[in-house]
Amino acid sequence: MTALGIHDLSVATTHHVLELDDLAARNGVDPQKYRMGLGQAQMSVPAPDEDVVTMGAAAALPIIERHGTDRIRTLLFATETGVDNSKAAGVFVHSLLGLPAAVRTVELKQACYSGTAALQTALGIVARNPSEQVLVITADIARYELDSAAEPTQGAAAVAMLVSADPALLALETASGVHTADIDDFWRPLDSTTAVVDGALSTRAYMDAVLGAWDDYRAHGGAEFADIDHFVYHQPFTKMARKAHARLAQHNGAESVPEAFESTFTYNIQLGNSYTASMYAGLAALLDSDDDLTGKRIGLLSYGSGSVGEVLSGIVQPGYREHVRAEQTRAALENRQRIALEDYRALHAAVDGSSTDQEFPQVTAAPFRLAGIRGHARHYESTRSA
Ligand code: HMG
Repeated sequence: MTALGIHDLSVATTHHVLELDDLAARNGVDPQKYRMGLGQAQMSVPAPDEDVVTMGAAAALPIIERHGTDRIRTLLFATETGVDNSKAAGVFVHSLLGLPAAVRTVELKQACYSGTAALQTALGIVARNPSEQVLVITADIARYELDSAAEPTQGAAAVAMLVSADPALLALETASGVHTADIDDFWRPLDSTTAVVDGALSTRAYMDAVLGAWDDYRAHGGAEFADIDHFVYHQPFTKMARKAHARLAQHNGAESVPEAFESTFTYNIQLGNSYTASMYAGLAALLDSDDDLTGKRIGLLSYGSGSVGEVLSGIVQPGYREHVRAEQTRAALENRQRIALEDYRALHAAVDGSSTDQEFPQVTAAPFRLAGIRGHARHYESTRSA
C-alpha cells in the first residue's frame, strides 16, 4: 500500500513577542510560576496588521515555493480564530499565494482539534487519488481576558503542511483513536474576542479525552505504548503535555520518560498556545531536534476543548532531515520584536472584532499583511513587492 502522510511542514508566527517575566512582574507573580509551573517563557503577539490569514499564508509560502502548485487541488484551513462567519480564511490565503482556480477551499473548526480533522480529511482525499496533494493550514491566536489566570497561556502561530503520497517527513499509520464529549471547559461565544474557560475543568477534560482516544486507538489496532518512541501532545502550555504523558504512562503501567516528549517543547515554550497549530509546532520541534529519528514511531495526541481528542501515529521517513525547516523556524522566533507590557495591553484592548472600515498601519515584516477593512470586507496585501 502507498504510504500517505506529511510531505512538508512549515511554521510561521507573529511580529511581536512578550516576555512572560514582564507579565509576571506586572501581575506580582513569581516568574518561576510561568517558567516552571506552566513551562512557558514567552508568547507571540500579533501586530495590528496580522491575523490567522497572514500567518497561515506566511507558513504556506515556503511550501508553495518548494513544491509548486500543480498537484494541490485542496486547501484546508483549520482555525478557531476565524476572520469571517461565512468566508473561509483559506480563500484569502488562496488568493495571496496565487493558487490556481481549480482548488477546493474550506475552513474547519473544533477548538484546538480542527488541524487534526483537516489532516485526516487530507489523507482521505490523497488515498482516493494519490497524484493529488492537499495543503493543510493550521493557525490560531489564543486570547484570554487581560489579568485573568489564563493570560500567560496566550500565544499565536501557524503551521502549514503538505499532505501527499510517499511523504518525505512522516508516513501516517492507518490506526487512529477518537473521543468526543460535550463539555463546557473552554469556548468562545460569537460576541466575544476572548475565550471563556474553566481552567481546572479544561485540564481534566484534556486528560479524559487523551485517555479515551488512546483506548480507542489501541482497540483499533494502534501500537502499544512501549512501541511509540516519541509522543507529541497538544501543548496549551508545555507542563500540560508533561502531565498528560505521566498520566498516559501510568494508564499503560509504564514509566514516563522525559526524552519521549521534551524535545517537542522547544518551539511552544516560545510561541505560547497556538491552539490548533500547537501540536504540529511540537512535531516540527521534534523533527528539527538533534536526534536522528529515522524509522521512529511518533504518537500524535490531539485535543480540542468542547471536546474532541484523537490519537494517531506515524513513522519518520528516511532522508527526512534534508526536508525539515529548522533554520526557517528559528529565524521566525528570533526575528520577533520584543513588545513592552503596556504596548501589549493596548494592542490586546484594541481588538474588538468589529468590521468597521479602517486602515491598519504597516507594522509586520511578514510577507503578507492585513491592509484594511473596506465596506466590511477584509483586504490583504503582499509586502514582498512593496
Ligand atoms: P493558575 O491559576 O495559574 O493555576 O491557572 P495554579 O495556581 O494551579 O498554577 C499553575 C502551576 O504553577 C501549578 O503547578 C503550581 O504549583 C505552579 P501544578 O500543580 O499544576 O503542577 N506554581 C509554581 N511553580 C513554580 N514556582 C512558583 C509557582 N507558583 C505556582 N512560584 C491554568 C493555570 C492552566 C488553569 C490557567 O492558565 C488557564 O486557565 N489556562 C487556559 C486553559 C488551559 O490552557 N487549559 C489546558 C487544557 S484545555 C486545552 O488544552 C484546550 C485549549 O488549548 C483550547 C482549545 O482547545 O482550543 C486551552
